[in-house]
Amino acid sequence: MQKRMMLVRTALAATLVLGLGGLSTAATGPLKAPTEQLIIAGKKPARFDHSVHLKMGLKCGTCHHDQDHKPLTAKDIAAMTDSSQLACVSCHNKSRPQMELQTKRDVFHARCRACHQKGYQGKKGPTRCSGCHLKRKRQPLEGC
Ligand code: HEC
Ligand code: HEC
Ligand code: HEC
Ligand code: HEC
Repeated sequence: MQKRMMLVRTALAATLVLGLGGLSTAATGPLKAPTEQLIIAGKKPARFDHSVHLKMGLKCGTCHHDQDHKPLTAKDIAAMTDSSQLACVSCHNKSRPQMELQTKRDVFHARCRACHQKGYQGKKGPTRCSGCHLKRKRQPLEGC
């Protein structure tokens, strides 16, 4: 019983830390795709809206995978208690053996920009820097 409470507290603490760190709406129940736009934090914050992408029929596993690079399904994600497992930087950092998969710039551009260039179902996404990155002068939350 006590152990369970500890787990709940740890999950809550992680949620708070994440909230401050940029992932906006970490849920405490089963995890679902956020309905609001996320601001991906970093030196060049960028916008990302799940709903725009899910409407085109993209599966969670197009972007989310586990430590073995196996695509995650909505069910896998719902079973998680902590969205920090989904944060790309939790795996894509200096400890990753492949040099080209260590930085946010590399992994996000590889995943996001590459598809925008190629297009999906006949639609292209923004490829100019300002199509994803917030303008400097604005505050992140007003940048949408
Ligand atoms: C399709 C969306 C998209 C486009 C277009 C895009 N980026 Fe990014 N980029 C991202 C995301 C998401 C990140 C991760 C956020 C961050 O690291 O600040 C990122 C990260 C970066 C970073 C690393 C920042 C850091 O934290 O170290 C740089 C530098 C960068 N982008 C430059 C550019 C430039 C210059 C252009 C235009 C030539 C561009 N990006 C176009 C999505 C995009
Ligand atoms: C086109 C890419 C893409 C698809 C498809 C996608 N996601 Fe995400 N998701 C992201 C990115 C990027 C983040 C932010 C990760 C980061 O900041 O490191 C994210 C974050 C999340 C988070 C954490 C949000 C938070 O505020 O803590 C959840 C939960 C999530 N996704 C669930 C889902 C589910 C469920 C699906 C499928 C129904 C899905 N995602 C499909 C790209 C995607
Ligand atoms: C739990 C750990 C983990 C998380 C979280 C994670 N990755 Fe990965 N990622 C991996 C592993 C492992 C590989 C495969 C490396 C290899 O080729 O051996 C990989 C490969 C990749 C690749 C290159 C291969 C491909 O699929 O195109 C890209 C791009 C990538 N990840 C982007 C992302 C993005 C964007 C996120 C966040 C939405 C993310 N990753 C979250 C572990 C992770
Ligand atoms: C598999 C393809 C694919 C992937 C992966 C993808 N996108 Fe997109 N994205 C699109 C397409 C296509 C559109 C245009 C949708 C439309 O016109 O209805 C789009 C639109 C957008 C827009 C403009 C619409 C808006 O929300 O204002 C932004 C910003 C964006 N994507 C950011 C991202 C970021 C950041 C990532 C990576 C985390 C990403 N996308 C990953 C295909 C993709």
